[in-house]
Amino acid sequence: MTRYLINCLDKKAKIEKDIYGNFTEHLGRCIYDGLWVGKDSEVPNVNGVRKDVIEALKRIQLPVLRWPGGAFADTYHWKDGIGPQNKRKKIANVSWGGAIEDNSFGTHEFLDMCEEIGCDAFVNLNLGTGTVQEMVDWVEYMTGTGDTPMVNLRRENGREKPWKIAYLGVGNESWGGGGQMRAEHYVDLYKQCTQFIHIGNPGSFDESYLNRGTKLIAVGPPTGSEWTDAVMKNLTGTQYQLNFAFERNLTDGVSLHYYAFGSDDFMNSKTAGDFDEYDWYNLLQKGAEIEEKIVLQDNTMSRYDPSKVIGLVIDEWGSWYAAEPGTNPLFLYQQNTVRDAVLAAMTLNIFNKHADRVKLATIAQMVNVLQSIILTNGGKMILTPTYHVFDMYKKHQNATLLGTFIENEIIGVEDKRINRFYESSSIDSEGKVLATICNTSMDSDELLEIELYGAKILEAEADIIHAAPHAKNTTDKPDMVSKQRWNVNIENEKLIVSIPAASVISVYITTK
Ligand code: AHR
Repeated sequence: MTRYLINCLDKKAKIEKDIYGNFTEHLGRCIYDGLWVGKDSEVPNVNGVRKDVIEALKRIQLPVLRWPGGAFADTYHWKDGIGPQNKRKKIANVSWGGAIEDNSFGTHEFLDMCEEIGCDAFVNLNLGTGTVQEMVDWVEYMTGTGDTPMVNLRRENGREKPWKIAYLGVGNESWGGGGQMRAEHYVDLYKQCTQFIHIGNPGSFDESYLNRGTKLIAVGPPTGSEWTDAVMKNLTGTQYQLNFAFERNLTDGVSLHYYAFGSDDFMNSKTAGDFDEYDWYNLLQKGAEIEEKIVLQDNTMSRYDPSKVIGLVIDEWGSWYAAEPGTNPLFLYQQNTVRDAVLAAMTLNIFNKHADRVKLATIAQMVNVLQSIILTNGGKMILTPTYHVFDMYKKHQNATLLGTFIENEIIGVEDKRINRFYESSSIDSEGKVLATICNTSMDSDELLEIELYGAKILEAEADIIHAAPHAKNTTDKPDMVSKQRWNVNIENEKLIVSIPAASVISVYITTK
């Protein structure tokens, strides 16, 4: 029996809902097929976007969606994707296999879809091949309200009201595929571009002029702390306008990308379902290493922002395996097994534990690419094991992280070693506690005894994701791995619940 203690008196940071975000890129079948089928499609759709996917996203209360990339964002020219769809320019998607991009999914389609889902929009601007003017115009087009050229163009294209843009990303991996820049060059470009961006009404010296309501996200490091140090040093503190010095942060978040690769040899990686015990622990160990990266970034950022106003934005994370046989390797289509559910559960627990700094995260990618929560096949949709983790964790959104302790042990094979359990608990405004725990052991079940400090347990219910480690969902068997009700007993004011090998459980506790 393993003891798990939850201290309801030890209230920590708010878990921002946006930690449960997703990422979509014009890559493979993420946008086309995965989301966009067009208004005339036989696949049921809402204004061209798959209805089944929209409904699935509403069920997990998707809080925020990043678009249009990734690598693609740094080659994306937004004007190609507005106006009548049959007149839009076709381009080659040079980032992802040269696939022909007909631009039928553009700004209106993305932002209208976010409104339909009820999630916030995170638009990644093009710093790689775009101009400052292009960026300024795009933001004016999306958010402006005045009688100005870009706002009037938007009106001509059928949209009177501005959209709400929660986040603007400034470039993507600018140290690598996004331009091979030095940090110093990046921060200069960042300042130059964002100086001229106006959210809302251009030129008005009102609230919108100061970017209120829209947060700016700077590119974070490839690795280490040097890049982050340069970004924080230059984008926080004293800034100048006219002869005046202002103490002002020029950014609201610094991004971090972290993938758990399926094999030590990236070029000879195995597919999602092709793993043995060594691969299981190897992948999960890589997943667990995200915590070191977070701690390093957090500490580096704290040199300039000790009160943690600026968020760490993990806007690409997840597993990366070899593409499924018979698919284009550059389309990054991979299946999703119980191993991915455990990886997602572990990672989201780690994010929750660092909620004082991690304010936004978007898994890569939402549909048909890398660690997807949804796979599609023609008219059919599959919810992956990872989807069910997001479902089980959704009540953490906007709740308060609690102090916890679990009796842990180190397990694994050879040098691939990890904690047996990854957990986090939160409390909502009504005093309800959500505890989420995953058992990373591939073969050993355990019994948990959960005790609450500072609150009395009134009742509890539990859910589980539990199946053979290699189990996955397919169009023939879409429910091999899904969220199931699980037994939890109250004994002597404690909760007793079993946690089988390779499983994820959530326990929802009503307290007094
Ligand atoms: O998610 C796939 C790619 O990985 C993204 O386009 C890029 O940002 C990262 O390197």
